[in-house]
Amino acid sequence: MPTDFDWITDRRGTWSLKWDRAERTLGVPDVIPMWVADMDFPSPPAVVEALTRRAAHGIFGYPMTPPSFRQTVIRWLGTRFGWAVERDWLLKAPGVVPSLSFCIRALTRPGEGIVVQPPVYFPFFGAVEQNGRRLVRNPLAFRSGRFEMDFDDLERKIDGGTRMLILCSPHNPVGRVWTKAELERLGAVARERDLIVVSDEIHAELHYRGHRHIPTASVSDDLAGRTVTLFAPSKTFNLAGLTTSLIVAGETNLRDRIAAEIRSAGFEIGNLFGLLALETAYAHGGEWLDELLVYLEGNIDFLERFTAERLPKLAFIRPEGTTLGLLDCRKLGLAPEALHDFFLKKAKVYFSPGEVFGDELQGFERINFGCPRPLLREALERIERAVDALGKTEKPR
Ligand SMILES: Cc1ncc(COP(=O)(O)O)c(C=O)c1O
Repeated sequence: MPTDFDWITDRRGTWSLKWDRAERTLGVPDVIPMWVADMDFPSPPAVVEALTRRAAHGIFGYPMTPPSFRQTVIRWLGTRFGWAVERDWLLKAPGVVPSLSFCIRALTRPGEGIVVQPPVYFPFFGAVEQNGRRLVRNPLAFRSGRFEMDFDDLERKIDGGTRMLILCSPHNPVGRVWTKAELERLGAVARERDLIVVSDEIHAELHYRGHRHIPTASVSDDLAGRTVTLFAPSKTFNLAGLTTSLIVAGETNLRDRIAAEIRSAGFEIGNLFGLLALETAYAHGGEWLDELLVYLEGNIDFLERFTAERLPKLAFIRPEGTTLGLLDCRKLGLAPEALHDFFLKKAKVYFSPGEVFGDELQGFERINFGCPRPLLREALERIERAVDALGKTEKPR
């Protein structure tokens, strides 16, 4: 039976960071939350059933994955991306954010430079700096309404002490799905300057018409040897709360060093429910995902149309992938904090402020459109009313 993605499931009071934070922490009730990147859809029925069955068993001791676990992951990566991965290349990990730290600690030394491409998922900054490494910023260029890598700046910024580049692919928050040509060019720089590439591909399956995610490690033999890929079902199948992910490293030396770091952090066994959900999603979630992608693309079309027709002071930057888009709100003329406050307190819609991803996004807000369309419509209508009211309070010049 096709999934009814229009159905609204009440998430309030379910220990949901997304739904309960505005009221409990910020003291603003009745807000539609469209910030943190989880979706308001139940996971695929096969996953819910597998977890329910397992929960009913009642004994939750240490898990040991069956042989089918790795086979399922390999089949998923092969069929979805044409990427041939071997059993030994896979390491189990908790969230992708902890894996960033595992890679940084295992593969670089304190003080060494690590390149990130802001505006970008902000925990990249913390992972570098909190581990005592040097943050090298290679900002994306905003050209004709589209973000692109700035290769000239990248070449200039890399010095003898730069060891690693953390790539976000697809890119949160700008929504780019990097093309083969872009990845090849990045690969050429990595090769020339001998950089390790950590490729965060947590949004890999979420790409839309005309765009196709290409795993960085699949682009060339050289990139396969210097790339560590961080992968998870968390975004795609809405499983982030189960904090289970994978690290894929084809190069033995890199993999062994990361595995030692994971062991030293005491993380080896994993979460029973997270592992079961991961295998079930990759084994049985494909059809659900294909339906989801059509629905999400409908949300993007809706957002684009609504913004163009009814919110002339806002511009929506159409994403090529992820459930995240950017609203360019600079025409509202509000300072960053006032802008965020306006959406939260006047429109009662909770976005992620652009500048948390980098100063490049001052005047922008990130919208998570991974929700039923009626909710998206309600949020946009709230914004329309608030912008109209703002116009009426403006003093005549
Ligand atoms: C690019 C990116 N990496 C990592 C994460 C979080 O990963 P995890 O919850 O597995 O730590 C997110 C969540 O939004 C993300 O967008």
